[in-house]
Amino acid sequence: MMKIPLFSSSLIIFLVLAISISPSHENQSFLQCLETNSNPSYPISSLVFSPNNSSFPSILQAYIRNLRFNESTTRKPLFILTAQHESHIQASIICAKSLGVQMKIRSGGHDYEGLSYVSNVPFFVVDMFNLRSINVSIEDESAWVEVGATLGEVYYRIAEKSNVHGFPAGVCPTVGVGGHFSGAGYGNMMRKYGLTVDNIDDAKLIDVNGRILDRKSMGEDLFWAITGGGGVSYGVVLSYKIKLVRVPPKVTVFRVLRFYDQNALDLAYLWQRRANKWDNDLFMRMIIDVVNSTTHTSEKTIRVSFFTLFLGDSDKLLSLLNQSFPELGLERKDCIEMSWIESVLYYTNSPITPIDALLSRSPPLSYLKRKSDYLQKPMSKEGLEFIFKKMIELQTPTILTFNPYGGRMSEISPLAKPFPHRHGNIAKIQYATNWNEKGVEASNHYLNLTRVLYNYMTPFVSKSPRLAFLNYRDIDLGITHNGKLSYFEGKVYGIKYFKKENFNRLVKIKTKVDPQNFFRNEQSIPVYPSWRN
Ligand SMILES: Cc1cc2nc3c(=O)[nH]c(=O)nc-3n(C[C@H](O)[C@H](O)[C@H](O)COP(=O)(O)OP(=O)(O)OC[C@H]3O[C@@H](n4cnc5c(N)ncnc54)[C@H](O)[C@@H]3O)c2cc1C
Ligand SMILES: *[C@@H]1O[C@H](CO)[C@@H](O)[C@H](O)[C@H]1NC(C)=O
Ligand SMILES: *[C@@H]1O[C@H](CO)[C@@H](O)[C@H](O)[C@H]1NC(C)=O
Ligand SMILES: *[C@@H]1O[C@H](CO)[C@@H](O)[C@H](O)[C@H]1NC(C)=O
Ligand SMILES: *[C@@H]1O[C@H](CO)[C@@H](O)[C@H](O)[C@H]1NC(C)=O
Ligand SMILES: *[C@@H]1O[C@H](CO)[C@@H](O)[C@H](O)[C@H]1NC(C)=O
Ligand SMILES: *[C@@H]1O[C@H](CO)[C@@H](O)[C@H](O)[C@H]1NC(C)=O
Ligand SMILES: *[C@@H]1O[C@H](CO)[C@@H](O)[C@H](O)[C@H]1NC(C)=O
Ligand SMILES: *[C@@H]1O[C@H](CO)[C@@H](O)[C@H](O)[C@H]1NC(C)=O
Repeated sequence: MMKIPLFSSSLIIFLVLAISISPSHENQSFLQCLETNSNPSYPISSLVFSPNNSSFPSILQAYIRNLRFNESTTRKPLFILTAQHESHIQASIICAKSLGVQMKIRSGGHDYEGLSYVSNVPFFVVDMFNLRSINVSIEDESAWVEVGATLGEVYYRIAEKSNVHGFPAGVCPTVGVGGHFSGAGYGNMMRKYGLTVDNIDDAKLIDVNGRILDRKSMGEDLFWAITGGGGVSYGVVLSYKIKLVRVPPKVTVFRVLRFYDQNALDLAYLWQRRANKWDNDLFMRMIIDVVNSTTHTSEKTIRVSFFTLFLGDSDKLLSLLNQSFPELGLERKDCIEMSWIESVLYYTNSPITPIDALLSRSPPLSYLKRKSDYLQKPMSKEGLEFIFKKMIELQTPTILTFNPYGGRMSEISPLAKPFPHRHGNIAKIQYATNWNEKGVEASNHYLNLTRVLYNYMTPFVSKSPRLAFLNYRDIDLGITHNGKLSYFEGKVYGIKYFKKENFNRLVKIKTKVDPQNFFRNEQSIPVYPSWRN
């Protein structure tokens, strides 16, 4: 058995980790180690799935949410631990440290680059899906939520107890609490209530020494880091305590589509000048994509869609938009009133009943790539026209989604949480490319198209650095190779996700709580190089 000496130099750690031990030894001794170090009241061996186990493929695939990482060539974990109790995670940290095996943590598995279950080095996965309890207290307007719960489950459990409470998190019900909350989280109530992490009061975390900490015992720095800086660099988050927010018993939604030969260009132009200034109750997402022309069937055209949640009734919404966006020509028949929980399903393009659909853990899957940008100045009509033209020319399936900022988002300091994108942003843009063709060639084709479109957008978006959203994980922004250059590599993507000031604070906290960089992935927060300590 190999022991890691406690050298402080990251170079030596790198060398130690790089020494490969025979895989069969590795997994055998790991299992023994887990058994030795676990609490006998919570047996562990039946929760460990090795590749030689017939359930291994289905356990692994159950939370693969991007088919790009479901290939036979995708490196598989040495084993998966389906933790049922915190002691299982504590044991796995002890053993991973002493055997020098990379640990990955998976909650909902929606990481766009698969970083919760893919790696370039020998690794194992701690799978959190069994840890999914949700305890809602309407009296206290709060809830404790375990990381293996999905957003759909959180919304469902709140709505079960109240029709005037909700929670401001993402719009995809199968996204996991673990990655989403620790990486900031936003949804269609962000203009009213801010980010998910602006509504978190407490957390439970297992640190590198296996201690279970809450907000009080971890301190404000570490709590700050795991509410937006990504949990993965600091420990294994077990649960979060959230603050519920008030929603009206009826909300109003609509989806209005306009084609290029209608007034799509003008509307897109006007939206950018207004959408971040409207009433905080109004969230109007703008989506731009390429579709078949209805008039010339062999041609492609641009469609601009306005996808809205309004925290109020349709009368108020109609009069509001009649004044502030009359060009849209919104009509009463476009507006649908429903409960907040129904609007959650409406926003995912699902039928709004039965509400139980929110509990499903089997989303439709495809191959996908995501990128993000921040829009800080409105694009000119010529700029928009240029992008429309390029999208048609590329025949790209990429969808551009503009999520309006402003409102509550502009009031919160950029230093309040690791997420720095507050005042001064009109919108975040998401590039979403989905495809269904198998294989590397198809993937390369669509990855390239997404990057080409992103390059065409360069003049119109944030610069120096070009900013990005952590939860829209994008390894094109850089990765670390876990060697002595980690800090410098980490800074490259780190300041894009967090900007300099927050990144520096994240590194400082990381260096303090996990100086040997045990908790890491390809885009984690690095420690300061040892010569700086
Ligand atoms: C369909 C879809 C829709 C989305 N919509 C939104 C949206 O509306 N708003 C938004 O903000 N984001 C959205 N996202 C992005 C989403 O928030 C992130 O992908 C998020 O990180 C996923 O969390 P997860 O737990 O499902 O993923 P995982 O892949 O399990 O984890 C993501 C990352 O967090 C780490 N991690 C997971 N659990 C823990 C833990 N318990 N402790 C420490 N580290 C952990 C993982 O190791 C990995 O690095 C969407 C993603 C998808 C696929
Ligand atoms: C350990 O790993 C080796 C090589 O990857 C594999 O052949 C063997 O079956 C594994 N053993 C277990 C118990 O998973
Ligand atoms: C597979 O793993 C499970 C859980 O550890 C265990 O119960 C089962 O017996 C294993 N099956 C095989 C074939 O190893
Ligand atoms: C799989 O690996 C485990 C752990 O090493 C071992 O005990 C078990 O016998 C193996 N099962 C099979 C079916 O090879
Ligand atoms: C993932 O890959 C496995 C093995 O090739 C395959 O059986 C499974 O259907 C794939 N999953 C999806 C959703 O395509
Ligand atoms: C919810 O309550 C149950 C029962 O008291 C408890 O076992 C569980 O740990 C709680 N969950 C959270 C996330 O606090
Ligand atoms: C668009 O047109 C192409 C052929 O030009 C066709 O294959 C495709 O199915 C059409 N898409 C839709 C959504 O109608
Ligand atoms: C919209 O505003 C115009 C004038 O500003 C008014 O005549 C019209 O009745 C309004 N319509 C609605 C639905 O409020
Ligand atoms: C990427 O796509 C562009 C536009 O279609 C094309 O010109 C270029 O050759 C492609 N590059 C690669 C590496 O495939």
